[in-house]
Amino acid sequence: MTKLTQSTLWPQLEQHSAKLPHMRTLFESDSERFDKMSLSACGLFLDYSKNRATDETLKLLVSLAEECNLTAKIQAMFKGEIINNTEKRAVLHTALRANSDQDIRVDGINIVPEVKQTQAKMAKFVDAVTSGQWLGYTGKKITDIVAIGIGGSFLGPKIVTQALRPYWNPSLNCHFVANVDATSLVEKLRLVNPETTLFIMSSKSFGTQETLTNTLSAKDWFLANGGCQADVAKHFVAVTSNVTKATEFGMDADNIFPMWDWVGGRYSLWSAIGLPIALLIGMDNFYALLDGAKAMDEHFLHAPIEKNMPAIMGLFSLLYGNFHQAQSHVVLTYDHYLRGLPAYFQQLDMESNGKSVTLNGETVNYSTGPVIWGGEGTNGQHAYHQLIHQGTPLIPADFILPLQSHNPLGEHHQQLASNCFGQTQAMMQGRTYEEALAELSHSQLSDEEKNLIAKHKVMPGNKPSNTLLMNKLTPGTLGALIALYEHRTFVQGAIWDINSFDQWGVELGKTLGNDVLARLKADSDANELDASSNGLINKFRRASI
Ligand code: F6P
Repeated sequence: MTKLTQSTLWPQLEQHSAKLPHMRTLFESDSERFDKMSLSACGLFLDYSKNRATDETLKLLVSLAEECNLTAKIQAMFKGEIINNTEKRAVLHTALRANSDQDIRVDGINIVPEVKQTQAKMAKFVDAVTSGQWLGYTGKKITDIVAIGIGGSFLGPKIVTQALRPYWNPSLNCHFVANVDATSLVEKLRLVNPETTLFIMSSKSFGTQETLTNTLSAKDWFLANGGCQADVAKHFVAVTSNVTKATEFGMDADNIFPMWDWVGGRYSLWSAIGLPIALLIGMDNFYALLDGAKAMDEHFLHAPIEKNMPAIMGLFSLLYGNFHQAQSHVVLTYDHYLRGLPAYFQQLDMESNGKSVTLNGETVNYSTGPVIWGGEGTNGQHAYHQLIHQGTPLIPADFILPLQSHNPLGEHHQQLASNCFGQTQAMMQGRTYEEALAELSHSQLSDEEKNLIAKHKVMPGNKPSNTLLMNKLTPGTLGALIALYEHRTFVQGAIWDINSFDQWGVELGKTLGNDVLARLKADSDANELDASSNGLINKFRRASI
């Protein structure tokens, strides 16, 4: 048995969760529930009143967090302690948002000056490209960025640039290539001109197959379409923590932007990995993004657990996974610009908390990270919301809505908001059999038919949701929102006592993939593996002869 489930709070939470009244009853019995169970921080407003919770639930959850030393663990992360124990690394994406007068040490050395130097290098580069001082090999201004990377070296920059579309420099365009499927690269290269395109290769390790292959093919395309070797430096830059490998690869030393092994890939958009963002929205807006995240860092570090937005969201998610058997969590963004955010949170949470052993290697006897999925409202309402409302699994939801639109048009935004709030209401209150029958009272159906249809129209309700609002989607509010989810992920990992900052699970597939590649290229059929793998490899070999 793990320490966590041995806590006396664990069975208390189990028993308490089983006997909580329906949320409808909770709302009926307390007219101040919304005021009591909502919170503002860093430009965000969180309504958590539509959760299966009372004061007692929150007390138990906060006690669990305290017993698991959440506050001390938060402080340890911010101080730069080696909390990523399997890779022996500090976890300091928060240092990327630090003020220049802060002193944050890794191996005894203050890392803040290095962070600021890199930001200054980014600022200089952004200025050179956008002012037209940095020109392509035929003397033309850069018009297109092709950003090559995968995982954390792709999703963050892609989702943030997509979200901050209204802030783009109108004379630049940006394209992202991640997949090793050549189609992804080829389709993007069709859109750009080698004379005016800048390639940014982003790879923390500088060892990721997809990124190396795509960069080499992009370089071949550049050389085959007018550029020569001496022009490469004007069109290819890299972001990496492995500067030596990047130089060996042929990247010009001046064109390499450093990052550090104390920044996890999925937490890296705040570093030079964010270069495509900075180019598109400008350095001042990039700093505003960092400031928004910094504000959330301060809140996370200093607010008491019961008033701490990431802690509350993390604790509720844990409540549903561990005490209500929820296996997934849906993120629903009611803003077209935020349509990519669920995919970003998916990597953030699932790569961080998809773990089965505690920090000291003990197998957990409780659920850890749920499946994170989602999409853009209102589209999902006409698709998968059916399962959320009437399906058998419990799927807690986060609804995210800016109060003002960047594109006010007629009553679109009111309709959007009404759908968002209407969904949370429907999830919470549901529809009883009696209500469904009453709705059918004026229909021509027979009593028997009414009875049948009413049964199909019953919605159990009591489905939990958080609603997150912000006045407007800006670099600052987006920074706070992303940092909120980073810290929410941390809270759960801290209580589950797992390492949220390694990702050993993705390694085996990479190793075996390389072994398979050698077999696909070999002169003879594969026969040393399992029958299925041999069979698949040989089918592919024969098809490519
Ligand atoms: O395979 C997973 C992963 O290691 C992610 O954690 C990371 O963000 C991604 O690959 C890309 O890695 P890199 O930036 O080193 O190319």
